[in-house]
Amino acid sequence: MRIVIAGAHGQVARRLGRLLSARGDTVLGIVRNPDHRADLEGDGVRPVVLDLEQVSADEVAEVVRGADAVVFAAGAGPGSGAPRKDTVDRGAAVLLADAAEQAGVRTYLLVSSMGVDRVAGGGTPAGADEVFTAYLRAKLAAEADLLARPALAVTVVRPGGLTDDPGTGRVRLGHGIDAGQVPRDDVAAVLLALLDAPRDGAVVELVGGDTPVAEAVAATP
Ligand SMILES: NC(=O)c1ccc[n+]([C@@H]2O[C@H](COP(=O)([O-])OP(=O)(O)OC[C@H]3O[C@@H](n4cnc5c(N)ncnc54)[C@H](OP(=O)(O)O)[C@@H]3O)[C@@H](O)[C@H]2O)c1
Repeated sequence: MRIVIAGAHGQVARRLGRLLSARGDTVLGIVRNPDHRADLEGDGVRPVVLDLEQVSADEVAEVVRGADAVVFAAGAGPGSGAPRKDTVDRGAAVLLADAAEQAGVRTYLLVSSMGVDRVAGGGTPAGADEVFTAYLRAKLAAEADLLARPALAVTVVRPGGLTDDPGTGRVRLGHGIDAGQVPRDDVAAVLLALLDAPRDGAVVELVGGDTPVAEAVAATP
């Protein structure tokens, strides 16, 4: 397969890139910082330097053309304020969707976040500060934009709190599940399995659990 990962130097993204390249898939990784190219090359991922807050859909379409799927694993990150939650977590995800549509790439995996339903209908979640609320709103808006596009087959993965613990290969995937944590290794494993069997319009929460990844993904409608 040929896969394009946006936010390819991210911690989940690099794990996914290594899994894909290790089994022989072609992986293009979009990064904004040219200094990240060497790390990607070391992972077996072909780096493409593009700042997704600066470029046009046309430019991104040239990168994704011919891909079997695109994966959005970028994020403005912990040190960022509310404006960048909108420009990255929503805006860049939507830009990638525009580019995928333009290039005729149908399969799109979005890494979103558990808890986004807490801002559905414009609500402000109890205990969430302004930046976290903006983050959840940006993720939810990205989901809504993508899921409304008939030209795309979208799978939304909403992980709980990400950890760097070693993956267990076992997860819980579903709807309305209790908040929890999940190792980034296991998020990458779930994304890999979903790339092999993409859904169309699925939205799943993901935390650590007892079910082997392949079984959990197979049970996802
Ligand atoms: N942390 C959590 O507990 C948690 C929970 C649920 C979901 N999530 C979501 O899960 C996803 C993956 O998380 P992670 O920890 O792997 O993220 P991460 O390590 O923070 O990686 C995010 C990547 O996005 C890149 N990026 C930011 N702005 C960009 C731009 N304008 N153009 C291109 N790339 C850009 C960053 O590049 P730079 O290094 O250049 O900034 C970084 O490499 C994120 O969407 C995150 O919001 C996180």
